[in-house]
Amino acid sequence: MKKKILITGGAGFIGSHVVRLFVNKYPEYQIINLDALTYAGNLENLKDIDSKSNYIFVKGNITDLAFVTELFQEFKFDGVLHLAAESHVDRSISDPLAFITTNIVGTVNLLNAAKELWKGEMDDKKFYHISTDEVYGSLGPTGKFTETTPYDPRSPYSASKASSDHLVRAYFHTYKLPVVLSNCSNNYGANQFPEKLIPLVINNIKNSKPLPIYGKGDNIRDWLFVEDHALAIDQIYHEGRIGETYNIGGDNEWTNIDLVKKLCDIMDKKLNQDIGTSQKLITYVKDRAGHDMRYAIDASKIEKELGWKPSIQFEEGFEQTIDWYLENTDWLERILSGDYEKYYENQYDNR
Ligand code: NAD
Ligand code: DAU
Repeated sequence: MKKKILITGGAGFIGSHVVRLFVNKYPEYQIINLDALTYAGNLENLKDIDSKSNYIFVKGNITDLAFVTELFQEFKFDGVLHLAAESHVDRSISDPLAFITTNIVGTVNLLNAAKELWKGEMDDKKFYHISTDEVYGSLGPTGKFTETTPYDPRSPYSASKASSDHLVRAYFHTYKLPVVLSNCSNNYGANQFPEKLIPLVINNIKNSKPLPIYGKGDNIRDWLFVEDHALAIDQIYHEGRIGETYNIGGDNEWTNIDLVKKLCDIMDKKLNQDIGTSQKLITYVKDRAGHDMRYAIDASKIEKELGWKPSIQFEEGFEQTIDWYLENTDWLERILSGDYEKYYENQYDNR
């Protein structure tokens, strides 16, 4: 019997890279991708693997308790990798409730279903909760987040993720649910929804539109290539110690303005424009409310315990990412026109 692994949020940015890695690397697993296909979920991200025999897609919402319970009863999962979430900070500022519902209630539904299914037989089971460095709050000019940094979330998004992290740990202590967690820094790479900074800037440069920089552009993020995050997730799922948390980061800090300027210069070369053309599009706009100043991750625990570290140099990963967006204009166009939402209807029957 193949092990059955549930991956939630597998049609999203990071989830699609994790699903692809698991489907290709572990033919002995049955991978079940559960995704509600919100605006951020796009099955086109998985076109290359969706006919593989060890892959099943299920459309469904983690906030629907009856549905989640039934799904766990039907598949009897051996493990869960939980990535489904509302993930965009700006959207959480305009609509916090959607974040509370999916990120907190949805996570508790999955925890309860796993607890019931695995009652009395927790051996070899694992519930892996994928989270963010934003739960730790905002850093000044020095220091890095470690796994013991006190939580200090500042946006509805990060508060909802912090809450879900606490609940996952509570299920470990209270019910002995075999959990593991990770908190990662900003990811970049192919298939990121084009309202996040990097794909948004690439698309706006292509269309000679303004590049909106919040505030002074001096906020700092630590950028990690998404495929390196997926590899870290693979290692933590298989080798991470139960009850533990692992920080994941790129050791790669950039101010937003320096990152966007670098992107502009690379784009000028790719588009055969004079260097400086794209930078002229930079436009400073009103700052994000409660904008965290700096994130930086101390990833020494995962490196020491599991031997993981980023495999791709930023220069290489960044250029590869830009090339992907330039080569996959159809993917972007279908998102911008809304056509990507029809893909599911053409490919799958409703359960
Ligand atoms: P994303 O927004 O691209 O994808 C989220 C996916 O979850 C989508 O496919 C969406 O359809 C699905 N989803 C949303 N609500 C759902 C619901 N109620 N039921 C079922 N599916 C639902 O997000 P992402 O950037 O890929 O992030 C994935 C996870 O990683 C999130 O938990 C996020 O907090 C975490 N994370 C992201 C980053 C980053 O830089 N993007 C960094 C660290 C951690
Ligand atoms: O740190 C991990 C987090 O990284 C994840 O938990 C989130 O899910 C993910 O979306 C990301 O959050 P950020 O808010 O850092 O990502 P975003 O791409 O929205 O913004 C990156 C930085 O760029 C941030 O400081 C805000 C700024 N920004 C963003 C946009 C969209 C701009 O200056 N202009 C913009 O138009």
